[in-house]
Amino acid sequence: MANFHGTAWDRLLAVLIAFVPGLPPDIHFEAYEPSPSIDLEKLPIVNALDKVEVILEGETSGAESPTVIGQGDGFYAGLDNGQIVKYQNGIVSVVAQVGRDCGAPWGSVCGRPLGLRLDASGKLVVSAADRGVLIVDPKKGDVSSLFDFKSDIQGHVPGFADDLDVGQNGTVYWSDVSTNLDVMNPLKDLLGNDPSGRLVEYDPKTKRNKVLIDAIHFANGVQLSENEDFVLVSESIRCRVLRYHLKGPKAGQKDVFMDGLPGLPDNIRPNGKGGFYIVLSEPRQFLGDNIGKLPTVRKLILRTHTLVDLMAGSLKRFIPDFVDFGGLSQIVLNTIPVQKISAAIAGPSRILDVDAAGKILRVLQHSENKISFASQIVISSKYAYIGRFFGNGIWRIKMSDLNTECPTLSEFDDHRKTLEIMDYCDHKCCALMFYAGDMTDIFGYI
Ligand SMILES: *[C@@H]1O[C@H](CO)[C@@H](O)[C@H](O)[C@H]1NC(C)=O
Repeated sequence: MANFHGTAWDRLLAVLIAFVPGLPPDIHFEAYEPSPSIDLEKLPIVNALDKVEVILEGETSGAESPTVIGQGDGFYAGLDNGQIVKYQNGIVSVVAQVGRDCGAPWGSVCGRPLGLRLDASGKLVVSAADRGVLIVDPKKGDVSSLFDFKSDIQGHVPGFADDLDVGQNGTVYWSDVSTNLDVMNPLKDLLGNDPSGRLVEYDPKTKRNKVLIDAIHFANGVQLSENEDFVLVSESIRCRVLRYHLKGPKAGQKDVFMDGLPGLPDNIRPNGKGGFYIVLSEPRQFLGDNIGKLPTVRKLILRTHTLVDLMAGSLKRFIPDFVDFGGLSQIVLNTIPVQKISAAIAGPSRILDVDAAGKILRVLQHSENKISFASQIVISSKYAYIGRFFGNGIWRIKMSDLNTECPTLSEFDDHRKTLEIMDYCDHKCCALMFYAGDMTDIFGYI
């Protein structure tokens, strides 16, 4: 008699879920591969992030996009509980509530404020997930929609507003992550293969939206160039950054600004030198390099997730208040310590310092990989702030430390062991070292 062990049944079930036609969700799964990664080792890597400090650890969660106020030590940030807070002179205050905390994994998505910019009049322009693009008066706390987010834009209702930038004349450039995206099932867009993200331009005079680039695979960070001759958008799942030309001979055309990035690009912000800081929130090993080639695995994960949710949906009919929002998978995800587990498996975030033409000048990282889930870096005269889409607090680093081109002292450790007196040079930095018995000293950089 056939004796099916548990694993055999599991395999059969997996095969059924992955291959039986017609199971939800109904989206395409094809193999794809981003362009091969630029070799990180060949880039000027600097451990400039070793000197970050965490601020507001108990007070902010999921502060994706801090926006500096003037040039001082202060910023606004949107949190995953739907609040927008102001931080100035060491004090945090809530200035507006634009969404709500719906307890979803990765923090709330229910109107969660993601991208923030200050416009010329001191109001905040905010992309708030499924609530769209909002205007927030930080003095009064008033929140209003810039346009009806549930109405069709060139054939598709927007799905999820992620990031934005505002031009001098008030034009808003914003990213619609995906028109297929189910906000409670973000896996769909990550694992599916139906790129439907868009870069959209909103003209405040005509009050109309126009799609500049479509079919983007997870449209993410948005940034205008210094003189507004082009606008960039991160295509996270393909590990590249796209560009749309607004002025000049190529006006109206799009192209690939940077390709083969060694991670998934998130928000882009000015680097203060005419170029950009692009945060790579994740290295590309999992989502970028491997998962694309495995359509069946993607289909299996996504179908299982959807089936569990459907089952939870039917349970809900019999048990009122079974769960306020979301499905069984949400309960599971909220019960297990997602944050701890994710933190353990998350790869290091890195920051690319690039010039206006997309040339990588430096790769900023933490030598012990202590920065993960980072989403954006924004600079002011004294400090830079690094936001995170997941987890508590905001990182802060002095501009002088961010701008260093010198490796940190720990990198000289290997040399300490072998050499008595040396001067060691790397990336324009030299350390003069002295060895005497058990004592080693670095006299400094020259
Ligand atoms: C506003 O500025 C953008 C560049 O940010 C430009 O493309 C657009 O044509 C301008 N609109 C008007 C009405 O001048």
